[in-house]
Amino acid sequence: MKIINVSYRLPISLQKENGKVHVSNTAGGLSSAILSYIEKANCELVWTGVANFEPNLWHEIKDKSRVGYELAPIFLGKQLDKHFYQGFSNAVIYPLFTYFPSFVEYKEEYLTAYKTANKLMAEKVISLYKKGDIIWIHDYHFIPLAGLLRKEIGDAKIMFFLHIPFPNYELIKLLPQETQQYLFTNLLAADIVGFHTWEYALHFIETSEKVLGVTQQGFSIYHKNRKVDVGVYPISIDFEKFYQAYDLPDTKITREEILSNYGFKKIIFSVDRLDYTKGVVYRLNAYEQFLEKYPKWQNKVVFILVIVPSREEISKYAERKTMIELAISRINGKLGNYNWTPIIFQYKSLSHSELIALYTACNLILISPVRDGMNLVAKEFVASRKDKQGVLLLSELTGASRELHDAIIFHPLDIHQIATSIEKGLTMKPMEQKTRMESMQKYLARNTVFNWATKIIDEIKGYENTNSIPLDWDKRIQVLHQFSKAKKRLFLLDYDGTLAPFNSNLDLAIPSKEIIAILKALINNPKNEIWIISGRDKIFLEKHFGNLGVNLVAEHGAEIKKGEWKTTILEEDGVWMNDIERIFQEYVELHNDTFIEKKRFGIAWHYRKLGEEKGICSSRELVSILKKYLYNKKLILMDGNKTIEVKHHLANKGDICKTHIIKEDIDFILAIGDAKTDEDMFALLTESHHITIKVGDSYSKANYQLDNTELVKSFLSQLSTAH
Ligand code: UDP
Ligand code: G6P
Repeated sequence: MKIINVSYRLPISLQKENGKVHVSNTAGGLSSAILSYIEKANCELVWTGVANFEPNLWHEIKDKSRVGYELAPIFLGKQLDKHFYQGFSNAVIYPLFTYFPSFVEYKEEYLTAYKTANKLMAEKVISLYKKGDIIWIHDYHFIPLAGLLRKEIGDAKIMFFLHIPFPNYELIKLLPQETQQYLFTNLLAADIVGFHTWEYALHFIETSEKVLGVTQQGFSIYHKNRKVDVGVYPISIDFEKFYQAYDLPDTKITREEILSNYGFKKIIFSVDRLDYTKGVVYRLNAYEQFLEKYPKWQNKVVFILVIVPSREEISKYAERKTMIELAISRINGKLGNYNWTPIIFQYKSLSHSELIALYTACNLILISPVRDGMNLVAKEFVASRKDKQGVLLLSELTGASRELHDAIIFHPLDIHQIATSIEKGLTMKPMEQKTRMESMQKYLARNTVFNWATKIIDEIKGYENTNSIPLDWDKRIQVLHQFSKAKKRLFLLDYDGTLAPFNSNLDLAIPSKEIIAILKALINNPKNEIWIISGRDKIFLEKHFGNLGVNLVAEHGAEIKKGEWKTTILEEDGVWMNDIERIFQEYVELHNDTFIEKKRFGIAWHYRKLGEEKGICSSRELVSILKKYLYNKKLILMDGNKTIEVKHHLANKGDICKTHIIKEDIDFILAIGDAKTDEDMFALLTESHHITIKVGDSYSKANYQLDNTELVKSFLSQLSTAH
């Protein structure tokens, strides 16, 4: 098995020293996950990303396999890379997804560069791809890549994982609609889309529903002819590596140096990339408040604050650096003295041993992002505390806070709460520190980054897009053969969209003369039993099929006719219907080319005449409202083909087939339908003598697919002439 891993950053960097190019591995959560996975699972890896080195450096070393897997950088050139990475990725998507909409700098040239870079990456991946490979795309730089790949390599297994938060739809709305469509239609070409938390996954599902009008069932999204599974996989760390690093000689030496420098003072530590999401200014203000509120700590504590340079060319990052420096100098100037500097500030990246030494020398780590997809620093700190000491203070707005329950959790804007939490942390008894640390370490030892990668790769390996296949001529012959051999055959036929094409005027969607003739011919054969299973009410069905001798199901199963009409629903309180009608009425007022259809056990709003865009927008809004209304009620919301219907929970095509129609001695069943309600029938019919056909090209559980009602007619006509 080969994995093609795609991320903006490559897991190596190149430096030229004394005329020779040196390759060094860049440490980081993602590379340790992927590399530990391929080592243990013994599979091939090709890693592609954007080079941050010149092509000539790469050409000097590319043939020497120094890293144990294949690297395949793409070279974008300075201007394209700038607009792609600093522009659309980090000045549009990143601030928006991390809830900083006012930091967004939306420019057409950024979007153009983003599209070009994704196209170039698609070309690269396609050139690397061989059938059976798994393509794993990481992060917001490559949201549309899956769609660009799918066009060329239709059957590839593609996974997309987002490492940053996925925001509420209200934020996504701030992107122009065309951009939303471009991003999410293409993203939904992946097989699996993964997030760190359920909150992000649910936001994503809602966004897909609202932007594209997709349907959703369980945690799968059905888009065009594909099923996309949405999953939650919180990233983690290589626990053992951090745990064992406590005793490494370099770590010990640096730790002792740090401890001897600060004598008996308590050490508070924090390390983050330079980023407005990390809440550093609030953190500093909270530390100031802590020192003023608890003056006994003055001269007895130091705060080692490390900021790792990142994205400095983007104005909001450069501004943040200045804000942090001003806050530090203000606090040090106000509270420090010639014996004591309250904040020790370093603006640089740390070596691995320095990082572990600081994790293990400090008494307390203060992690206060105002938004963070996960936050690995929190997990690394806990894992490296082999001594079981140290206190984790963690913002509730990080993904990690959902897992590390034994941290002291706080809100990052509540500087009063942070100040009291610092005091609580610094005075926490060693026994309590140990208990909390052990509990978090147990969790992290079980949930490592290796488990994370394994879980995702296992899911993508097991993923199947079991969509229906076209019922072409060859398949028709096979079905006909099966049909001719059978002695008792059952037809389960949906009406609208199956036996008759849709019409925006319900009364005009009537059966054609040809279809009536075909049905008559089918009924005349005593081996056949015909049922029309519809959402229409019994008055309509009776009018058009009443004299034909077919059996009828109206209102999705609420009423059935085999000889006589009877209802399958015994008790009914109709109060809800007035409430729903009032809500629907509001939408009819707003869009007067829509209308309400009232039935005995259900009520539907039809919006076929609204344009595509308006239709998606209004119907998704209405679906959200109805989902809230329906919570805990014995009602079902049916998000159908340009209709939204609320009906009694017992009116279900699948149930009615099971309880009233399908019998043991039938040796051929044909079910045809176009809508979601028909999926309940298809789900029941899984044996080899069951033939299920979906009309239309959207995703379905049915075995076969026909494009339209004309093809249904011609197929039924073929069957009507067989014996
Ligand atoms: N880190 C680093 N260099 C440093 C300090 C930290 O590479 O000088 C690493 C740290 O070990 C952690 C990562 O940077 O793995 C930060 O990940 P996190 O999820 O906390 O935040 P992000 O930077 O991804 O927003
Ligand atoms: C976040 C993103 C990563 C990114 C990292 C560092 O964690 O999710 O994709 O690699 O920040 O950012 P940088 O812009 O320096 O690559």
